[in-house]
Amino acid sequence: MDCKEFAKLNGSDDERDCIGLHGTAGESDVPSKISGLEHLKNKKYNKGLAFCLEERQLLGIHGLLPAVVKTEEEQVTHSLILLNRLENNLDKYMYLSDLAERNERLFYKVLASDVSKMMPIVYTPTVGLACQNFSKIFTHPKGMYITLNDSGHIYDVLKNWPETDVRAIVVTDGERILGLGDLGANGMGIPVGKLSLYTALAGIKPSQCLPITLDVGTNNQSLRDDLLYVGLRRNRLSGVVYDEFIDEFMHAVVRRFGQNCLIQFEDFGNANAFRLLAKYRDNFCTFNDDIQGTASVALAGILSSLKIKDTALKENTILFFGAGEAALGIAGLCLMALIDNGLTEEEAKKRIWMVDSKGLIVVDRPKGGLTSHKLRFAQNHEPIDCLAEVVKAVKPTVLIGAAAVGGAFTQDILESMALYNDIPIIFALSNPTDKAECTAEEAYTHTKGTCIFASGSPFQPVEYNGKLLHPGQGNNSYIFPGVALGVICAGMLTIPEEIFLIAAEKLASLCTPSDLAKGSLYPPLHKITKCSVEIAISVMDYAYKNGLATVRPEPADKAKFIRAQMYNPNYQPTFPKTWLQKL
Ligand code: NAI
Repeated sequence: MDCKEFAKLNGSDDERDCIGLHGTAGESDVPSKISGLEHLKNKKYNKGLAFCLEERQLLGIHGLLPAVVKTEEEQVTHSLILLNRLENNLDKYMYLSDLAERNERLFYKVLASDVSKMMPIVYTPTVGLACQNFSKIFTHPKGMYITLNDSGHIYDVLKNWPETDVRAIVVTDGERILGLGDLGANGMGIPVGKLSLYTALAGIKPSQCLPITLDVGTNNQSLRDDLLYVGLRRNRLSGVVYDEFIDEFMHAVVRRFGQNCLIQFEDFGNANAFRLLAKYRDNFCTFNDDIQGTASVALAGILSSLKIKDTALKENTILFFGAGEAALGIAGLCLMALIDNGLTEEEAKKRIWMVDSKGLIVVDRPKGGLTSHKLRFAQNHEPIDCLAEVVKAVKPTVLIGAAAVGGAFTQDILESMALYNDIPIIFALSNPTDKAECTAEEAYTHTKGTCIFASGSPFQPVEYNGKLLHPGQGNNSYIFPGVALGVICAGMLTIPEEIFLIAAEKLASLCTPSDLAKGSLYPPLHKITKCSVEIAISVMDYAYKNGLATVRPEPADKAKFIRAQMYNPNYQPTFPKTWLQKL
C-alpha cells in the first residue's frame, strides 16, 4: 500500500498526510486561511512574544504585543519561573493545562525541559488530584465527552471533533480512576494526561491525539450531589445497554478515523476492562493500558531486578497482592515470559501466587469470588486469609502490590521478605502515593537496605546506612507511548499480546549497568523518549515479521522513519522562509 492508499484506509477526510508529517523542515505548516489574530489565539500557531517583527507586521498583529521579541528558550525560562512560584501541585497542573491551551508548542517545550519534574505534575500523582477536582477546575474542552444520551448518534458526535487525522484515542468511562474509584466524567484528566505523554514522550502529534470520556453516569453519590459536577447525574449504565453503547463507539471510531486508529482503554472498571479487551482485541487496533501496559512495565522491572540478582525468571516465585486489572495483567505476561523461559504452562503457573480481598486464590476457595481470570492462577493449597501468613507460607522472591490498599506491606511482611531472600524484590505499584503498599523508605528500612524496590507513584531516593538507594518507578509511560508509536508507524490493525513482552524485554535491555548498580530498574526518565523510539522499532520489527504491518514498503531504516514522523515542538515559520527572503 502506498501513502495515499494508507491515508484512505485511515478514513481521513484529509488525505494530504501519510503518517504524521509535521511540515517540511523550514517551510510553514500554517494554513494560509487563518487570520492574523487567529495566530495569536490558536494554540497550534501561537508563538506569543516569539513572533518576530516581520511576522507581526505580515499578520497584522503588530502593536498587539509589547516590543520585546523572545526566543523559545527565554519563553521556557519564563514559564518555569511562573510554574516554580506556585507551591501547590494542583495549581501547577492548572498552569500547565492553561499553557497547553494558549501555546501548544511552548507547553511541550516546557515538558521536555525536565521530564522527570514535569511528569508528576501532568500525570500521576497530580492527575489524580486534578480528576478529583475536575469539575471545579474545568475551563477548556480538551477532548470529547460522549454521553449515553448520544446513543445512536456517536458517529455524528465524533464528526464534531475539529481534527480529521486522528491516529490515537485514549478513552475512559471513569469507573476506576487510578486507585480513586468511580469519578464519572471527572475522569477526563486521565485521557488528557496520557495523550500529552503520547506527544511529550513519543512525538505523536497533538492534533492526531483525541482524549475521550464516555459519560455513562456515576455511582459516586457525592459527585452526583456536587453542584459543580460536569457529568450526567445518574446511576452508571451497565449490562446490555452499556455493551451496545461501547460497541457503537468502537464502530463509530473506525468509521470516522479508520481501522488503524489506535484506541487505548484507560481506567475502566475491572469487569468491563477484561471483557472489552477480550471482545475487541482481535478485530480493532486496541489495548488496555491498565492491564497490558502495566504488565509490560512491571515485567521490565522484574527482568531488570533479575539482572541485579543474577537469577533467571523461572527460578523465582511471584506473589501478587491484588488480583485486579494490574495484577492479573502482570501475572498473565509473567506466565508468557516464564513459558518463553522454557517452562511448561503448568510449571509456570506454580511460580505465580495471588491474593485478593478474599485471601489467597486457591482452587475451590470456600469464600468464592473466583472469576475465570483469577481461576487461571488458583493454586492447590489450603485457603489463607491474611497476606502476612501467605508470605510466610509461599516465601516469594518477588512481592507485587496492586490492590490500592495503602500501607498493606507492613513491617512484619517486609521483614519476612528479607528473612527468606538475600535480595527481596518488592513492588508497591498502587497509585496515587497514599495507596502505595509501602513507601520506599519503609521497604528499605524493614529489609535493612537489601531489597530492590519499585513503585507506581514516584518516591525520592532514600539514604540507608550512608548509601543512596534509588527506587524504580514502574511508570506505564515507559511503555504505552513507544508501543503506540510503533503501532501507528507500522499501521497495525490489531495489537497481539507479544507486543507487550517485546516492549518489556526492550525496556529492560535499555537499563545500563550503572542504572542497575544504583538499584534503578528503569532508565532515567530523561531518557524516556529514546526508550519510546527503541520500543517502537521493536514493535515495527515484530509487525513486519508477522505480517501485521499495513504501511508499505517496509522502511529500510526504521529509526529514521520513526523520527521523521515525530512532532517537532520547535516553532515552525509562520511564512515560508523563501517569502520572507523576498521582502
Ligand atoms: P482493580 O480494581 O482492578 O483491582 C484491585 C484488586 O485489589 C482486586 O483484585 C481486589 O480484590 C484487590 N483488593 C482490594 N482490596 C483488597 C484487600 N484489602 N486485600 C487484598 N486484595 C484487595 O484495580 P487495578 O486496575 O488492578 O489497580 C490497582 C492499583 O494498581 C491502583 O492503585 C492503580 O493505580 C495501580 N496501578 C499501578 C500501575 C503502575 O504502577 N504502573 C498501573 C495500573 C494500576
